[in-house]
Amino acid sequence: MRGVRSLHNQGVPDTWNLERTGRDPLDFHRRLPGYEPTPLTEAPRLAETLGVGRVWVKDESSRLGLPAFKILGASWAVYRALEEHSENGIGAWDDLEELRERIGPLLPLALAAATDGNHGRAVARLAGLLGLEARIFVPADMVAPRVEAIAAEGAAVVVVDGGYDEAVARSAEEAGERCLVISDTAWPGYERVPLWVIEGYSTILWEVEDELARRGEPGPDLVVAQIGVGAFAAAVVAHFRAKRADLKILGVEPEGTACMLASVEAGRIVSLPAPRASIMAGLNCGTPSKVAWPIVSKGVDVFVSIEDEWARRAMRLLASAGLVSGETGGAGLAGLLALADDAEQEPTRHLLGMNGEANVLLFNSEGPTDPEVYARIMAGEGASSATAPNSG
Ligand SMILES: Cc1ncc(COP(=O)(O)O)c(C=O)c1O
Repeated sequence: MRGVRSLHNQGVPDTWNLERTGRDPLDFHRRLPGYEPTPLTEAPRLAETLGVGRVWVKDESSRLGLPAFKILGASWAVYRALEEHSENGIGAWDDLEELRERIGPLLPLALAAATDGNHGRAVARLAGLLGLEARIFVPADMVAPRVEAIAAEGAAVVVVDGGYDEAVARSAEEAGERCLVISDTAWPGYERVPLWVIEGYSTILWEVEDELARRGEPGPDLVVAQIGVGAFAAAVVAHFRAKRADLKILGVEPEGTACMLASVEAGRIVSLPAPRASIMAGLNCGTPSKVAWPIVSKGVDVFVSIEDEWARRAMRLLASAGLVSGETGGAGLAGLLALADDAEQEPTRHLLGMNGEANVLLFNSEGPTDPEVYARIMAGEGASSATAPNSG
């Protein structure tokens, strides 16, 4: 089975230095209730399958009580937005209770976001923790379990007549004195919050670095990031390029929504005219984020787009390594499997240094969001009926 297309980037600079906040997001996340670093699992069987030296999987299937990493970006962005919104700053605080007290004078206040799943649920969770209202805008065809999960956080869920882009546009209209829009994607004139989202994801990467140092292990040679609007990949580039210029970064997108690959090919941000939804729902985005674009388009070495079947195979392999992943969670491994399988991708494997010496870092960015579909995929069945639009 092939089902993979790769694009070698021409624009990779020697160094990349974007880490402006250092460990500030990590210090912030440490003060949230239930914070603990997620596991970094070594997976020798995956390494063997891929023909590489070692594979580490950073397991984000459970993060601060939610089944994906996205709350790291959402929470840091909410915090920074609140700081900016309060005339005299928030001041010192040690725990959530104190933070709630500090922001008391700003109430009543709402948070608004567009999503089809993880990001919106994370914003809703934050609103609940901070005593704020949440209005979450979702595309018309969002699957019921995702709507229910957001509503269960206490948010008002507004179903928008249209897709993800329409939901984003609708959420933007909410901005005002009593409502902060927390989007993980950027558009002209709205760039600060999505940058904070990228900064917030750096916590994952500091945890990896600290854990490898604690074990006395070398860093990765190849890092693989799944790409939706590109915010997560931007965090990966920002963190690792500053540290090691010869490290390779691979970006993975579903075949039908490979908007970053299409944009890099075009040399500018393009919107896919007719994105075809994938089972990797978190990656179903038709347009790259404006703030992620300059970082990802220059800092990622290779972009691949893959068919859904690779995601199912990746989920099964991750399960055999003791890791429970959703379709989007397994996408990074899926990209590597597709590259490893195709003789024509030898130049790509060579460029990425996929050989017996390579240390590879992957992210299981999401746990299973639909137990029924998960069970079917584990049983070896294709689950193409489970397509859903963006869950970012
Ligand atoms: C679980 C999961 N992984 C990866 C991504 C991709 O992140 P980004 O949209 O920042 O590229 C998303 C986006 O929603 C996601 O939900």
